[in-house]
Amino acid sequence: MSTSTPILSLGRSSFGNPENKGRLLSDEEAHALLNEWVPNERLRLHMRQVGAVMKAWALEREGADQQEARKWEQAGLLHDADWEKHPESHCRVIIEKLEQLNVDPEVIHCIASHGPKYFGVEPDNTMDRMIYVFDELSGFIHAAALIRPTRYEGMDVKSIMKKLKTPSFAAQVSRDDINDAISRINIPLEEIIQFVIDHQKDVV
Ligand SMILES: [Fe+2]
Repeated sequence: MSTSTPILSLGRSSFGNPENKGRLLSDEEAHALLNEWVPNERLRLHMRQVGAVMKAWALEREGADQQEARKWEQAGLLHDADWEKHPESHCRVIIEKLEQLNVDPEVIHCIASHGPKYFGVEPDNTMDRMIYVFDELSGFIHAAALIRPTRYEGMDVKSIMKKLKTPSFAAQVSRDDINDAISRINIPLEEIIQFVIDHQKDVV
């Protein structure tokens, strides 16, 4: 594989139609799409977790109203919707689907920028930067919960920091991506980890 052109590169930087600003799927439509496109329960849970953490961050840390927070949630909920059935064109398929469904271009751009190294789209606002921050960390923290008898109960930030420094633990989670994502925001990694623990522990 060429290192200069990532295989999943979307090859464009503009997404959706500005006339669709403010248009989202209903919660029922979003969950129906998720259930239809993602048979794997563990992956669906990952997406519900990222959706919940994104929504909570918008409400608690960005002063978003409910409609704005739903935008963050929908980006999180659908960001990997095509991963299981279309790994070779991951991101492209869900983006084109959301464009057809006239979804707010900011939601589509946010999904397109959740892996800049892979899709070739840079996060360019807070919502974009936060999905990139939360995506890998959310999966990593869930992997850590699964090996604890008490799951999220009593989980502390220190133990997660330690696991991040252990390359063999959840080796598929890219520490480079986590570090790159964190370098783009002005918030300590420890604070983000605590937020993720607090807000995804009850998502089932
Ligand atoms: Fe993801």
